[in-house]
Amino acid sequence: MDTGQVFVVALAIIVPAALLWGVFLARSGRTKKPSVMLGIPHAMRPAQPDERLEGPRLERIMVWGLLATLATAVFIPAYWLPETQRQTSFTERFAEEAVERGELIFSAPPELPEETDAQAFKAVERRIALGQGCETCHGAEGVGGSAPFTDPETGKSVTYTAPPLNNVFQRWDEEVISFTIERGRPGTDMPAWGVLYGGPMTEQMVSDVIAYLQSIQIEPEPLPEDCAQPEGKDIVGCGQQIFEARCAVCHGPEGQGKEEGKVWYQGAALWKGDVRHLSESQHITTVKNGRRYAFMPAFSEAPAQGIPVPPDPLTDPQIEAVVAYERTL
Ligand code: HEC
Ligand code: HEC
Repeated sequence: MDTGQVFVVALAIIVPAALLWGVFLARSGRTKKPSVMLGIPHAMRPAQPDERLEGPRLERIMVWGLLATLATAVFIPAYWLPETQRQTSFTERFAEEAVERGELIFSAPPELPEETDAQAFKAVERRIALGQGCETCHGAEGVGGSAPFTDPETGKSVTYTAPPLNNVFQRWDEEVISFTIERGRPGTDMPAWGVLYGGPMTEQMVSDVIAYLQSIQIEPEPLPEDCAQPEGKDIVGCGQQIFEARCAVCHGPEGQGKEEGKVWYQGAALWKGDVRHLSESQHITTVKNGRRYAFMPAFSEAPAQGIPVPPDPLTDPQIEAVVAYERTL
């Protein structure tokens, strides 16, 4: 709540309360100083007679009591009926706020010159407190980028590909995504962010940044029209197009995995006959089921039991086509 809202709520409570209090004081005659009334304390003055107390006064009190009961009876359902809606809008607001925080976490915190005054600091305090700078590697809005790394001992430099994250839900479910953010990917430039693994991010921050990632997901790139059913077509040609649309992001445009000074995702190479150590059927099974715990996603519409169905799977003939292409590399 900002101060304006607090002010309105305070007015809505304080003004009627003051009015009612005034009415009560005026009617009970308390506005006159009790000390001047005969010098007898309030509680010891003679009370009104029974005829008056049990007559019209009692009736008046009972009518007020009845009205108050009726008012409560109307108020309770009137308050209760919109409760579901109130809860839904709370949930929505919480979700929106998670995305807002996630966006701040994803962005790089602004740098302040040393002699910044307090006002200027206040304006960016939240961005500094939350910003983790995922965008410095993964690109603004998660379009993908790169992460240069220089080995401190050998002085050799290599550039890791930081995969686009605006399509990460096409490859992975939330379990793998939060696993990766919390623990990082040892052997690559992706650091561990979770507090449990020595990083700076609490569980809440991890779920906020995932909420933000969910909010920036783009539509999957459509597969080439004429390879929707590759049977009877140029299988290897279709396989190449499918590879470029779905596999190149991790394996490199030619399946090279890494080359001088550049490493794609985990450096997994599929070329120069590398992949032939798999028999064709092992090769097909690998693409169908993936290797979840080595970060190769599953692609089949019906992967082996226990493996989650990918959101945007390939058909069996498409998998056969892409495998045929890979075996020519
Ligand atoms: C999210 C990144 C990612 C995508 C997308 C991806 N792969 Fe992989 N793939 C990997 C990783 C990582 C490995 C290495 C797994 C391991 O270490 O066992 C791998 C391994 C493989 C292997 C086994 C290589 C071997 O020598 O054992 C094959 C075959 C393969 N991928 C094919 C494909 C095909 C075909 C596609 C596209 C339809 C694809 N991959 C898309 C990450 C990916
Ligand atoms: C220093 C560069 C760097 C920074 C900063 C960084 N990442 Fe990464 N990230 C990488 C690299 C490199 C990979 C690919 C790792 C691999 O090859 O397995 C990666 C992979 C990922 C993946 C897995 C993508 C996939 O398709 O499997 C997710 C999710 C991810 N990062 C999220 C984040 C988030 C969230 C942040 C900020 C809190 C962040 N990253 C900050 C370099 C970075």
